[in-house]
Amino acid sequence: MTARLIDGKALSDQIKADVAERVRALKQRGVTPGLAVVLVGDDPASHVYVRNKAAACEKAGLYSQVIRLPADIPEDQLLDIVRGLNGDPDIHGILVQLPLPAHLNAGKVIETIAAEKDVDGFHVSNAGLLMTGRPLFRPCTPYGVMKMLESENVSLWGAEAVVVGASNIVGKPMAMLMLAAGATVTLCNSKTRDLAAQTRRADVLVVATGKPGMVTGDMIKPGAVVIDVGINRSASGKLVGDVDFESARKVAGAITPVPGGVGPMTIAMLLVNTLEAAERSAV
Ligand code: GUN
Repeated sequence: MTARLIDGKALSDQIKADVAERVRALKQRGVTPGLAVVLVGDDPASHVYVRNKAAACEKAGLYSQVIRLPADIPEDQLLDIVRGLNGDPDIHGILVQLPLPAHLNAGKVIETIAAEKDVDGFHVSNAGLLMTGRPLFRPCTPYGVMKMLESENVSLWGAEAVVVGASNIVGKPMAMLMLAAGATVTLCNSKTRDLAAQTRRADVLVVATGKPGMVTGDMIKPGAVVIDVGINRSASGKLVGDVDFESARKVAGAITPVPGGVGPMTIAMLLVNTLEAAERSAV
C-alpha cells in the first residue's frame, strides 16, 4: 500500500482565496483587517516565516505591519510596543514571533497582547477558552490540521488520536481540538515510555516533536492518517519532517508531505483568525 498524499498547499490556496473574498466584503463596510507581526532579533528562520506571513497578508488584501526590533530590546520597551498595538484601531491581530531572545519572558509578552487580538491563540485566556470548548482563536497550526482532516473526510468521532509532542503551540491545543471533535486522545511527550506502543494504536497520528524522522513506518498502524507537523533541515539542506516519510508512506493510509503539508496551512489559518478578529470588531 502507498499512502494518499494530503495536499496542504492546495487546501491552503483554497482557504486563502476564501479569505480574500471575505476581506473584499469587509472592506466595503469600511474595515481593512490588519495584522501586526513583531519580530525580535535576527533568527534566520523567524525572518523567513515573518516575510511569508506578510506576503500572504498582502496577497489576500489584508494590511500588515512588521515591527522589527533589536535582539537586546529591554522587556519594558517591548511590552510598551505591544500595548500600543492593543490600542491601535487599524490592527486587529497581533503576533509576536517565537522564539524570543532568552532575556525576554515570552509568557509575559504574550499575556500583554489583548486577548481579542491574540490571533496565535497563545494567551492564557484563549488557551482556557479552547480547553473549555468555547474557543475564540484556535492556534493556527492545530487549526490547520483540523481543516486538513475535515477536507479528507477523516472522522474523529470515537477514533483513537495520538499526538506526539506536548508543546503549548501545537501538541496541547491539537489534543484539545481533537478531543472536542469526539476522539479519544493520547498526548505523548519526551518521557513516554514505549512510544511505539502508543503510536501503533492511532487511527490519526499527529507528530510535532522537532526531531527529524523520529516516527518510522513500523510505529504506524496500517491505514492510519499521519500528520507531520515537523519542519527540519537535514544535513544535506533538504526540508524534512518529524516522520520518516519513505517508511511511513508504505504503511499509512494518508500522510502529509514536508514541505507542502501542514506548513502552508499555518499561514492560511493566521489569515482566517485575523479576518475573524476584524469581522468581530466591525459588528
Ligand atoms: N514560531 C513558530 N511557530 C509560531 C507560531 O505559530 N506563532 C508564533 N508567534 N511564533 C511561532
